[in-house]
Amino acid sequence: MKTKEYAILTDYLTKNYGDFTAVNNLNLKVDKGEIYGLLGPNGAGKTTLIKMLCSISTPTSGGARILGKKIPDGDIASKIGYMPQETGVYFGLTVDQNMKFYSRIFNLQGEKAEKRIAELLKFVDLEDWRYEMVDNLSGGMKHRVSLACTLIHEPDLLFLDEPTVGVDPELRVSFWDYFEQLRDNGVTILITTHYMDEARRCDRIGFMQRGRLIAEDKPLKLLEESGKDSLEDAFLAFARNEDTMRMEAV
Ligand SMILES: Nc1ncnc2c1ncn2[C@@H]1O[C@H](COP(=O)(O)OP(=O)(O)O)[C@@H](O)[C@H]1O
Ligand SMILES: [Mg+2]
Repeated sequence: MKTKEYAILTDYLTKNYGDFTAVNNLNLKVDKGEIYGLLGPNGAGKTTLIKMLCSISTPTSGGARILGKKIPDGDIASKIGYMPQETGVYFGLTVDQNMKFYSRIFNLQGEKAEKRIAELLKFVDLEDWRYEMVDNLSGGMKHRVSLACTLIHEPDLLFLDEPTVGVDPELRVSFWDYFEQLRDNGVTILITTHYMDEARRCDRIGFMQRGRLIAEDKPLKLLEESGKDSLEDAFLAFARNEDTMRMEAV
């Protein structure tokens, strides 16, 4: 029997820094064509997890499959898009130069590249800033350039690490409309966010704390299960429960 191919499948994935465990025996399954939101406080291990899934960081133990391929895998880069938390663009280049740079990396040239760049600049509402140095843009605008560069090669799987920080509410909503449109076309998205209105739009959410996945389900199910009205309160309830279990285990 052929086993199901997930977009992301991790197997006791672990990352230690010295004797500190940033990601702890994590088993995560993300279906193709779903928006999976990772939520958790700063330091929970979200970025560390994403970096391992993008083959930027090597696991201490355990492993993962991305789109069916065991990572690290040299060919997977053309199928994934990674938008780092710290903005993955060159501040000393213009918006246009950044987009052309990323186009070239992914072998997108000529009219095709031109068309894609124009389309994405319109989407992130930066058409008027195309020839401006990125360094001169606001934080939110830099993020928008970074998102546009991440999308340039139409990846099948997107890793978006806090993509909407500093982006104004109206544009955040249009980002999410676009993410859902991508999802409806079969693209898988793993996204981290601290905004609860965004979390509610995920197909599934995973709550992360101290490198572990402490709960995961559809947003409404997590509310139901915790008996809370907000996802923040639901997270706290699951976190408290986890702490109690840890105390009892000691
Ligand atoms: N290169 C590193 N060296 C040592 N500790 C690190 C390193 N990268 C991350 N950490 C630690 O791992 C933990 C998880 O960090 P991170 O994955 O960035 O969390 P999150 O993205 O959820 O805020 C934090 O305590 C952080 O300080
Ligand atoms: Mg982070």
